[in-house]
Amino acid sequence: MRCRALACAVLVGVTACGTGESSVPLMSGTPDAMMLAGTAGDLPANAPARFDFGRRASDDRIALWDIDVRPDGAGLPPGRGSVAEGRAVYDVHCVACHGPTGTEGPNDQLVNSEQWDLYPTGRAVGNYWPYATTLYDYIRKAMPQLTPGILSHDQVYAVVAYVLYMNEIVPEDAVMDAQTLPAVVMPARDKFVVDDRIGGSGPVR
Ligand code: HEC
Repeated sequence: MRCRALACAVLVGVTACGTGESSVPLMSGTPDAMMLAGTAGDLPANAPARFDFGRRASDDRIALWDIDVRPDGAGLPPGRGSVAEGRAVYDVHCVACHGPTGTEGPNDQLVNSEQWDLYPTGRAVGNYWPYATTLYDYIRKAMPQLTPGILSHDQVYAVVAYVLYMNEIVPEDAVMDAQTLPAVVMPARDKFVVDDRIGGSGPVR
């Protein structure tokens, strides 16, 4: 018997749903037995027309999860933040792990303007990150590491501006928003190539 996702979900106690074998004895006439007796694709005669598991995801709920920002800036939310505002965010939310100038740690170094191919151990935003937009994406989703998600859109724009400023990529009066951020060209931009290979028999890396 083929395992249908729906059937598997209601087969309590059945461990090998691919074969129809059960870890518990089945009594004929029970819903389990009737379920197993069906042929692939069939539901038992007494199955409800629909199971009503879960709820349809509303557009609002989907929007809460649909927060990715792509390299070209698609997905950037409304909002804005300046370098000065970002310094205030950084000093509260980031400094403990990344240090006062973004170089001290104890966690990842955020600031480095030396070429990373000359200083491969010193990879940071300034010499390695290819897009300013994905910096927004990453910080919004993952930072501060212990409390991700607490920053407002404006605060993320601001702290991105400040991190870019610390890396000498934008001036001190820079303001980041959905228009200005995609226009920032990162120093390491051309050190990356788009991997558009499809298929092939080469080694998987
Ligand atoms: C509790 C510690 C902690 C705090 C607070 C924190 N970070 Fe991080 N951060 C980390 C760790 C650990 C990593 C490495 C995560 C990994 O490699 O998966 C990281 C990585 C990063 C990176 C990627 C660095 C790279 O190039 O690899 C950025 C950018 C960053 N953090 C920005 C921030 C910003 C901005 C804030 C404040 C809003 C912040 N972090 C707050 C611990 C922290």
